[in-house]
Amino acid sequence: MSAIRVMTVFGTRPEAIKMAPLALELSRRPEFEALCCVTAQHREMLDSVLEIFRLKPDFDLNIMEPRQTLSSITSKCLLGIEGVLQTARPDLVLVHGDTSTTFAGALASFYQKIPVGHVEAGLRTYDKWSPFPEEMNRKMVGAIADLHFCPTRANRDNLARENITSGVFLTGNTVIDALQTTVVKDFTFAEDILNHLDYVNQKVVLVTCHRRENYGRPMEQIMTALRRIADAFPQVELVYPVHLSPVVQEVAHKYLDGHPRIHLIAPLSVDEMHNLMARCYLVMTDSGGLQEEAPALGKPVLVLRRETERPEAVRAGTVRLAGVENEAIFSLARELLTDRDAYAAMAHAVNPYGDGHACRRIADAIAWHFGARSEPPEEFSGS
Ligand code: UD1
Ligand code: UDP
Repeated sequence: MSAIRVMTVFGTRPEAIKMAPLALELSRRPEFEALCCVTAQHREMLDSVLEIFRLKPDFDLNIMEPRQTLSSITSKCLLGIEGVLQTARPDLVLVHGDTSTTFAGALASFYQKIPVGHVEAGLRTYDKWSPFPEEMNRKMVGAIADLHFCPTRANRDNLARENITSGVFLTGNTVIDALQTTVVKDFTFAEDILNHLDYVNQKVVLVTCHRRENYGRPMEQIMTALRRIADAFPQVELVYPVHLSPVVQEVAHKYLDGHPRIHLIAPLSVDEMHNLMARCYLVMTDSGGLQEEAPALGKPVLVLRRETERPEAVRAGTVRLAGVENEAIFSLARELLTDRDAYAAMAHAVNPYGDGHACRRIADAIAWHFGARSEPPEEFSGS
């Protein structure tokens, strides 16, 4: 039997972090011929991940432009991926999550009549506008995909509600596979300021904030709350690696510049981010990936959004929804900075998102689907 040609397609930082371990797993195994296409919807932030995982794409569409619109990303990806698929003719295309690259990758494959596997399938808020445009992207990919790799049981239940029940596998999230390769004890940061923070006597609060639905008033409220937190609690060192989006850069610097204990730094490489997270006191974020990683490292998370498609860690008690209003964000942070019991109740490690074997399960499921393996993979049982 000839090798199954599987092409991974991704373009942004989080997709790369979650697809790199899978692309590497596929390329190690004899059943597969692994191909990798990046759209480079992100450029620097994508290249940083490729470098850390030593992954070399076979195709690079290099589409990024400053302040790109959703239509420009989608149309450039769609046309670019079409060309790649006509040349490479893979047996299966794997896309990840819910970005514009993800949607365009699935649609281009459908137009070429190439089967699609969706990694990180079944996440839903059931609010079309939040996260925007991600909720619709993942629903549309769910409608196109032939194979669905769900991180958790709740994700699988969401698909079942949409009558998607065949080709569905419960695998855990590949981000936990990635996390197991990056966190080490004596890590030295390339961002030197992080080597000099006092992680024991000070309270290092790690912040990220970038989502499109938070542009405008929500982001201004979030930034106002962050500055109040730094002002009110002298033991707080606030570290915020700022996303390269000009919209985000502008608002973050406007509200947070010029404070001695607020550190606005460049985006961190993924190994730096994971090691900083392992050392910090508290995470405040609107990121999806951080909501999965921080609980695995035993760090409480305040989510700077109105809703989350990741309810598992909320149920486990390590993540709380803080919303996007100054007052509510400030008072939840104050509680975690001043009330030891409230902090201790949230600071325990939980792993509802994976056990580090998601990539193996996904590769096994693909091999089984194509008849190269007699058994389906065992399910992830931790959710
Ligand atoms: C995208 C995804 C979002 C994901 C996020 C992860 C869509 C619609 N959104 O949003 O789901 O959570 O990535 O970070 O797909 N830029 C650079 N260099 C980089 C990366 C970005 O300069 O390496 C700047 C560019 O000016 C670019 C802008 O950031 O135009 C925004 O990037 P874009 O991919 O459009 O949106 P994100 O907010 O990053
Ligand atoms: N991340 C990183 N450096 C940073 C900020 C985030 O490596 O400066 C990682 C983070 O650990 C997680 C992923 O990027 O794995 C999350 O990406 P992002 O927040 O951009 O997107 P989302 O997960 O919200 O889609």
